[in-house]
Amino acid sequence: MKERKQLSVSAIENGTVIDHIPARNLFKVIQILGLDHFDSQITFGTNLESKKLGKKAIIKISDKFFEDEDINRIALVAPDAKLNIIRDYEVVEKKVVEVPDTITGIAKCMNPKCITNFEQVTTRFRVVSKKNVSLKCHYCEKITNQENMQII
Ligand code: CTP
Ligand code: ZN
Repeated sequence: MKERKQLSVSAIENGTVIDHIPARNLFKVIQILGLDHFDSQITFGTNLESKKLGKKAIIKISDKFFEDEDINRIALVAPDAKLNIIRDYEVVEKKVVEVPDTITGIAKCMNPKCITNFEQVTTRFRVVSKKNVSLKCHYCEKITNQENMQII
Protein backbone atom coordinates (compact mmCIF):
# COMPACT_ATOMS: atom_id res chain seq x y z
CA MET A 1 0.00 0.00 0.00
CA LYS A 2 1.30 3.41 -0.90
CA GLU A 3 2.16 5.41 2.17
CA ARG A 4 0.47 8.74 2.19
CA LYS A 5 2.17 11.49 4.01
CA GLN A 6 -0.05 13.90 5.82
CA LEU A 7 1.24 16.75 7.90
CA SER A 8 -0.45 17.15 11.25
CA VAL A 9 0.78 20.75 11.36
CA SER A 10 0.68 22.75 8.11
CA ALA A 11 3.85 23.32 6.11
CA ILE A 12 5.49 26.71 6.40
CA GLU A 13 6.99 28.88 3.67
CA ASN A 14 10.08 30.13 5.50
CA GLY A 15 11.42 29.56 8.96
CA THR A 16 12.45 26.85 11.38
CA VAL A 17 10.77 23.56 12.22
CA ILE A 18 11.87 21.97 15.49
CA ASP A 19 10.91 18.33 15.40
CA HIS A 20 11.30 15.41 17.81
CA ILE A 21 10.72 17.33 21.02
CA PRO A 22 9.58 15.04 23.86
CA ALA A 23 5.91 16.00 24.30
CA ARG A 24 6.28 16.51 28.06
CA ASN A 25 8.94 19.19 27.45
CA LEU A 26 7.17 21.25 24.79
CA PHE A 27 6.42 24.13 27.12
CA LYS A 28 9.95 24.11 28.50
CA VAL A 29 11.26 24.51 24.96
CA ILE A 30 8.83 27.37 24.36
CA GLN A 31 10.04 29.00 27.57
CA ILE A 32 13.77 28.48 26.93
CA LEU A 33 13.54 29.93 23.43
CA GLY A 34 11.32 32.76 24.64
CA LEU A 35 8.76 31.98 21.94
CA ASP A 36 6.02 33.66 23.96
CA HIS A 37 7.70 36.99 23.13
CA PHE A 38 7.86 36.42 19.37
CA ASP A 39 5.69 38.28 16.87
CA SER A 40 6.11 35.74 14.08
CA GLN A 41 3.56 33.06 13.30
CA ILE A 42 4.14 29.97 15.41
CA THR A 43 2.27 26.69 15.16
CA PHE A 44 2.80 23.57 17.16
CA GLY A 45 1.51 20.09 17.60
CA THR A 46 1.91 17.85 20.56
CA ASN A 47 1.30 14.25 21.57
CA LEU A 48 2.02 13.21 18.00
CA GLU A 49 3.06 9.62 17.45
CA SER A 50 6.79 8.99 17.31
CA LYS A 51 8.43 5.59 17.08
CA LYS A 52 11.47 6.87 18.92
CA LEU A 53 10.00 9.11 21.59
CA GLY A 54 6.56 7.65 22.18
CA LYS A 55 4.88 11.03 22.04
CA LYS A 56 6.56 13.94 20.41
CA ALA A 57 5.92 17.61 19.83
CA ILE A 58 6.81 19.82 16.90
CA ILE A 59 7.11 23.61 16.69
CA LYS A 60 7.08 25.62 13.47
CA ILE A 61 8.29 29.20 13.66
CA SER A 62 7.77 31.28 10.54
CA ASP A 63 10.43 33.72 9.37
CA LYS A 64 12.79 32.91 12.22
CA PHE A 65 16.29 31.47 11.86
CA PHE A 66 18.08 30.81 15.13
CA GLU A 67 21.74 31.14 16.00
CA ASP A 68 23.21 27.74 16.93
CA GLU A 69 24.06 28.92 20.43
CA ASP A 70 20.48 30.00 21.05
CA ILE A 71 18.97 26.79 19.78
CA ASN A 72 21.48 24.61 21.65
CA ARG A 73 19.98 25.87 24.90
CA ILE A 74 17.14 23.37 24.38
CA ALA A 75 19.54 20.40 24.37
CA LEU A 76 18.89 19.71 28.06
CA VAL A 77 15.16 19.21 27.53
CA ALA A 78 15.08 18.05 23.91
CA PRO A 79 18.36 16.22 23.27
CA ASP A 80 17.05 14.51 20.11
CA ALA A 81 15.50 17.59 18.55
CA LYS A 82 15.97 17.99 14.81
CA LEU A 83 15.95 21.38 13.19
CA ASN A 84 14.75 21.87 9.68
CA ILE A 85 15.47 25.16 7.99
CA ILE A 86 12.74 25.97 5.47
CA ARG A 87 13.08 28.36 2.56
CA ASP A 88 10.43 28.68 -0.10
CA TYR A 89 8.62 25.61 1.30
CA GLU A 90 11.72 23.42 0.88
CA VAL A 91 13.86 21.92 3.65
CA VAL A 92 17.24 23.47 2.82
CA GLU A 93 19.13 22.34 5.89
CA LYS A 94 18.79 19.84 8.72
CA LYS A 95 20.61 20.22 12.00
CA VAL A 96 20.70 18.47 15.35
CA VAL A 97 21.03 20.21 18.68
CA GLU A 98 24.32 19.97 20.51
CA VAL A 99 24.84 20.21 24.24
CA PRO A 100 26.79 23.46 24.76
CA ASP A 101 29.98 23.73 26.89
CA THR A 102 28.35 26.03 29.41
CA ILE A 103 24.79 26.43 30.57
CA THR A 104 23.40 29.67 32.01
CA GLY A 105 20.04 29.49 33.71
CA ILE A 106 17.76 26.65 32.61
CA ALA A 107 18.85 24.11 35.25
CA LYS A 108 18.84 24.25 39.04
CA CYS A 109 21.91 23.37 41.09
CA MET A 110 21.12 20.25 43.12
CA ASN A 111 23.09 21.46 46.14
CA PRO A 112 20.52 22.93 48.57
CA LYS A 113 23.27 25.08 50.14
CA CYS A 114 24.33 26.60 46.84
CA ILE A 115 23.99 30.39 46.70
CA THR A 116 21.85 30.06 43.56
CA ASN A 117 19.18 28.34 45.67
CA PHE A 118 18.70 31.07 48.22
CA GLU A 119 19.73 34.29 46.47
CA GLN A 120 18.72 35.86 43.18
CA VAL A 121 21.70 34.49 41.28
CA THR A 122 21.35 32.96 37.82
CA THR A 123 22.74 29.44 37.76
CA ARG A 124 25.87 28.81 35.75
CA PHE A 125 27.41 25.44 34.91
CA ARG A 126 30.26 23.92 33.00
CA VAL A 127 29.16 20.83 31.09
CA VAL A 128 31.47 18.04 32.26
CA SER A 129 29.72 15.28 30.36
CA LYS A 130 27.62 15.72 27.26
CA LYS A 131 26.37 12.21 26.75
CA ASN A 132 24.74 11.60 30.11
CA VAL A 133 24.53 15.29 30.78
CA SER A 134 26.34 16.29 33.92
CA LEU A 135 26.83 19.88 35.02
CA LYS A 136 29.39 21.38 37.37
CA CYS A 137 28.17 24.44 39.24
CA HIS A 138 30.27 27.57 38.75
CA TYR A 139 29.51 28.68 42.33
CA CYS A 140 29.66 25.57 44.54
CA GLU A 141 31.39 23.12 42.17
CA LYS A 142 28.87 20.38 42.95
CA ILE A 143 27.80 18.13 40.11
CA THR A 144 24.20 18.02 38.96
CA ASN A 145 23.51 15.07 36.72
CA GLN A 146 20.60 13.94 34.61
CA GLU A 147 18.88 12.05 37.43
CA ASN A 148 18.71 15.01 39.79
CA MET A 149 18.42 17.74 37.18
CA GLN A 150 15.50 20.12 37.60
CA ILE A 151 14.70 22.60 34.89
CA ILE A 152 13.90 26.06 36.19
N1 CTP B 1 8.13 21.02 6.98
C1 CTP B 1 7.31 22.14 7.09
N2 CTP B 1 7.18 22.99 6.05
C2 CTP B 1 7.80 22.77 4.88
C3 CTP B 1 8.63 21.63 4.74
C4 CTP B 1 8.77 20.77 5.81
O1 CTP B 1 6.74 22.37 8.14
N3 CTP B 1 7.61 23.62 3.88
C5 CTP B 1 8.32 20.13 8.14
C6 CTP B 1 7.74 18.76 7.94
O2 CTP B 1 6.42 18.74 8.44
C7 CTP B 1 8.64 17.91 8.83
C8 CTP B 1 9.95 18.66 8.85
O3 CTP B 1 9.69 19.96 8.35
O4 CTP B 1 8.13 17.89 10.15
C9 CTP B 1 11.00 18.00 8.01
O5 CTP B 1 10.51 17.83 6.71
P1 CTP B 1 11.00 16.62 5.80
O6 CTP B 1 12.48 16.57 5.80
O7 CTP B 1 10.30 16.74 4.50
O8 CTP B 1 10.35 15.42 6.58
P2 CTP B 1 10.97 14.04 7.04
O9 CTP B 1 11.74 13.43 5.93
O10 CTP B 1 9.85 13.26 7.63
O11 CTP B 1 11.95 14.52 8.19
P3 CTP B 1 12.87 13.65 9.17
O12 CTP B 1 14.27 14.10 8.86
O13 CTP B 1 12.43 14.10 10.54
O14 CTP B 1 12.60 12.22 8.90
ZN1 ZN C 1 25.77 25.23 42.99
